[in-house]
Amino acid sequence: MSKVLVLNGPNLNRLGTREPDVYGTLSFAELVANLGQLGSELGLEVEVRQTNDEAELITWLHEAVDAKSNVVINPAAFTHYSYALRDACAIVTTSGLKLIEVHLSNPHAREEFRHTSVISGVASGVIAGFGIDSYRLALSQLSN
Ligand code: DQA
Repeated sequence: MSKVLVLNGPNLNRLGTREPDVYGTLSFAELVANLGQLGSELGLEVEVRQTNDEAELITWLHEAVDAKSNVVINPAAFTHYSYALRDACAIVTTSGLKLIEVHLSNPHAREEFRHTSVISGVASGVIAGFGIDSYRLALSQLSN
């Protein structure tokens, strides 16, 4: 069974109570359960992680390369400025693995600083604006 790491950046552990008008009312624990269930339906071993720490996220991307796991990543605010995270994402995609950038909201319809993603240019694809379905669509793509 192929393994997919679903990585989440800062503040996403607060889903459910954090700006519910923007991010919805689903909690992070519910997101984990939902994606785990979809993974078993799709025949993927899905592991969902979250950290508020940029270094930890980078270490997990290195781990994905070593384990040959495809990646779904919501880099959260790191999306907009972390060149270190971009470089780590590039290590994933240049190794031949897929990395799909996802967002719950559509950053392009929000404040101007969110219109820039330093990650998209090294991602295999980007899905944004569909809430948890952004993640579900990414997993479906990786099961093809
Ligand atoms: C987000 C969008 C980012 O701009 C924001 O910093 C987040 C969440 C999203 O999923 O819509 O934390 O990545």
